[in-house]
Amino acid sequence: MLILAIESSCDEFSLALVENGNTCLFMETLSQIDIHANYGGVIPELASREHTKYFSIVLEKLDNFLNSNWREVDAIAVTIGPGLSGSLLVGIQVAKVIATMLNKPLIPVHHILGHVLSPNLSAELQFPYLALVVSGGHTELVYCRDVNTFETIGATRDDAVGEVYDKVAKKLGLAYPGGPIIDQLAQQGERTFSFPKPKMADPLAFSFSGLKSAVINVINNATNRREQIVIEDVATSFQAVVVEELVDKVERAIAMYEVKMVGLCGGVSANRSLRTAFLELASKHDQKLFVIPELKYCGDNAAMIGVAAYHLSRITNRTQKTKLECYPNISITDFMEFENMRKERDER
Ligand code: KG4
Ligand code: ZN
Repeated sequence: MLILAIESSCDEFSLALVENGNTCLFMETLSQIDIHANYGGVIPELASREHTKYFSIVLEKLDNFLNSNWREVDAIAVTIGPGLSGSLLVGIQVAKVIATMLNKPLIPVHHILGHVLSPNLSAELQFPYLALVVSGGHTELVYCRDVNTFETIGATRDDAVGEVYDKVAKKLGLAYPGGPIIDQLAQQGERTFSFPKPKMADPLAFSFSGLKSAVINVINNATNRREQIVIEDVATSFQAVVVEELVDKVERAIAMYEVKMVGLCGGVSANRSLRTAFLELASKHDQKLFVIPELKYCGDNAAMIGVAAYHLSRITNRTQKTKLECYPNISITDFMEFENMRKERDER
């Protein structure tokens, strides 16, 4: 089954061709980061307007790849949320037009399920499966008993990890997005600051706002006292707490749930210290399979949407085109309920 997938939930317009939910034959991702960097963060109105310029460029590349042989595509998949409404709508409109022109099914996909299932591009998913999703908007532990059942067993109570990286970076006067820059600086510093580890009553819940405030206070105090601060050391000390916290929660989840495979997904999974720590954890649990997608599948990309669509199409067995809307805040649970309702309706 060849799926043409579209992802445009934030500031990347990405198109991919994914075969049988595990092989990406083509992917083109146009990022707007350079534009939003001028403003220190994503400007939603600008993001959707830029998407309207980008999609035709990407479609032309796909047309060349397909030799204009679009009939080979079996279905169209598109992210319907969560994300920025204006950005989502551009991808959804493009998907509707292509699906209508080709008279092929249209598969709506939840963005986080895309991240969760993205490790299938590196190794076949084994269930029960646990995914740690770490991105600019999400920090979640998602437990999949089978490919039909997704349960969020841990989530952040405040800021997402990537968001905290970007806020700390901004405070340090670094460019947007700050995550990769802090990661780079962290490789060069020493752990000289002792930032507090988050404390939560719920063993699988995350909270990063206390850590963020502690780092910002240290920077403010140094500025007020006109003291020089070694930003590499701030980065190393901050990153060490983040990584310890994330790995700790994965370990707890593994202890509480039966798990065969563990995936690390989302933009922050590009983080070097986190990848190293995740692989160290893997060596401690050598009966389980630990998978981190290739860097190009860590951030927002359409290949992961194609993977998720393939799995969802097997669940819902849907062949009808739907009147798609965007759902900027939809949870995984609501999305799955929605899918199951649609399945029942289609079967009637
Ligand atoms: O998944 P993603 O591309 O987009 C969202 O859905 O949010 O994640 C983007 C986030 C940004 O906050 C960015 O700073 C962070 O991922 N990020 C990193 C690294 N690379 C990207 N954070 C820490 N270390 C990195 N190497
Ligand atoms: Zn994402």
